[in-house]
Amino acid sequence: MKRSCVALAALGMVVMLGGPVQASGGMPPAMEKFAKVSKTVQDKCMACHTQGYDLPFYSKVPGIREIIEKDYRDGLRAMDLNTEMLQAKGKPIGETVLAKMEWVVLNDSMPPAKFALVHWGSRLSDQEKKDILEWVKSSRKAHYATDAAPKHANEPIQPIPLSIKVDEAKAAVGDKLFNDKRLSTDSTLSCAGCHFYDRGGTDNQRFSEGIRKQFGDINPPSTYNAVFNFAQFWDGRAADLQEQAGGPPMNPIEMGSKNWEEIIGRLSKDEALTAEFKAVYPDGWSGDNITNAIAEYEKTLITPNSRFDKWLRGDDKAISDKEKQGYERFKAYRCASCHVGKSVGGQSYEYMDLKKDYFADRGGEALGSDKGRYNFTKKDVDMHRFKVPNLRNVELTAPYLHDGTVDTLDEAVRIMGIYCAGLDVPQGDRDLIVAFMRSLTGEHPMLAGKAVAK
Ligand code: HEC
Ligand code: HEC
Ligand code: HEC
Repeated sequence: MKRSCVALAALGMVVMLGGPVQASGGMPPAMEKFAKVSKTVQDKCMACHTQGYDLPFYSKVPGIREIIEKDYRDGLRAMDLNTEMLQAKGKPIGETVLAKMEWVVLNDSMPPAKFALVHWGSRLSDQEKKDILEWVKSSRKAHYATDAAPKHANEPIQPIPLSIKVDEAKAAVGDKLFNDKRLSTDSTLSCAGCHFYDRGGTDNQRFSEGIRKQFGDINPPSTYNAVFNFAQFWDGRAADLQEQAGGPPMNPIEMGSKNWEEIIGRLSKDEALTAEFKAVYPDGWSGDNITNAIAEYEKTLITPNSRFDKWLRGDDKAISDKEKQGYERFKAYRCASCHVGKSVGGQSYEYMDLKKDYFADRGGEALGSDKGRYNFTKKDVDMHRFKVPNLRNVELTAPYLHDGTVDTLDEAVRIMGIYCAGLDVPQGDRDLIVAFMRSLTGEHPMLAGKAVAK
């Protein structure tokens, strides 16, 4: 504890005495997104929440170094402003950062108490807190709260739009292709054969069965509302739906085709489908056109009008008191710091072992998929980091987590509390949160599933 204070104080000097910190490459961070709170964030938060800043000479002293590095690493893992500023450049400030900043200001938890104790002047003043909350509110209003009633415009979760712009003709052929088994090498499996319409867009299996009875090692996410994800797959390896749709057809344990020529060879024998396709895509069959059509179709797989969304749109009676309390708990236990936006997730990469080592506690054999985004980037910083799953229709999509080990929503909430939020959620509050999550089930003509999760 004492050593930790020294380290925090040492690190504090970088923030306080060094003036605005500089990235080691000398590049000033892109601060525009922080608008009028950028000075506060830069002076009081940035050093612990960005990567690549020079640490002072005493940070090399053995003993101090390890502690500084730990604080630094934990801060960056909890909220990564680097990615936000550099990789998401040009986009409005992310909903995850807004929700996280709001939580720490409302709970007065940042900068860390140990640090503030030894570092006079590092705390946020009342005015600075007010300014941050005001900035969160105006950013949400400007960029995200397009459909909520004005009184709910400042919520971290926003309603799914009733419809989004779709090219109907492309979506119609995309619908056929999504359901076409000829995308798989032995013509036995379509996209819908793993992403069932009436199983919440998943297959309700721990791992999906591909062609020739093969299994992967990762739980299938839902295709419903995937259009709202900031990237696709658990590890974010596809930037968008079109890129994603190019994956499964050639994946040897999913659909197993060799290349597009093989698939087109089968599809082009179907004269009616080929004529229909050419009417929409005059240059005819190609991998690009096929994935373009499927991606366009997936835009129609949105599930608006959940009872919770009706409440957000202003119908006070749409959810019960219990569900309302559940939503309050969902925010209080930090869940809404990561599960944000229209799809209640899908907007950032987060660590499954943020607060405690989930993988050690789970035990059993390590799965390749446990490495998360590391599998794609091969960067240590991405080890055990996953795209946050979307919680829409979550009562229909069991089992849960990338490893598919969790069967009930109650257990999912318990585990999330421990490993992601760092807060034990007692049974009573878990019941409320589960009730709230069940109010997220929306409407789609094909979403006929019944709640499978206990
Ligand atoms: C001395 C380093 C340090 C400073 C300065 C600092 N943080 Fe943190 N921050 C951390 C650490 C360590 C964690 C993770 C552990 C924890 O939550 O206490 C963290 C976690 C967070 C989180 C994630 C939520 C959470 O509690 O896990 C947010 C959001 C955050 N900080 C915002 C801020 C803001 C805003 C400021 C500036 C007012 C700030 N931090 C200043 C070190 C720091
Ligand atoms: C064998 C079962 C199977 C088939 C067939 C299949 N998928 Fe998937 N799908 C999965 C699994 C498993 C994942 C998660 C893989 C990962 O993240 O590494 C996934 C991920 C996705 C995602 C990402 C969702 C998210 O939240 O990240 C989308 C979108 C998707 N599939 C659409 C499709 C489309 C379109 C097809 C047909 C071209 C298809 N899938 C075929 C099992 C399947
Ligand atoms: C630090 C970010 C973070 C926080 C805080 C957080 N989650 Fe999660 N949540 C995730 C990630 C990442 C996953 C996927 C982890 C995995 O599968 O390994 C996840 C998975 C889930 C799932 C399973 C969804 C599925 O389809 O598999 C549920 C349910 C869930 N979270 C609910 C909650 C609740 C309730 C809370 C609050 C107690 C919470 N989360 C807090 C990031 C977070």
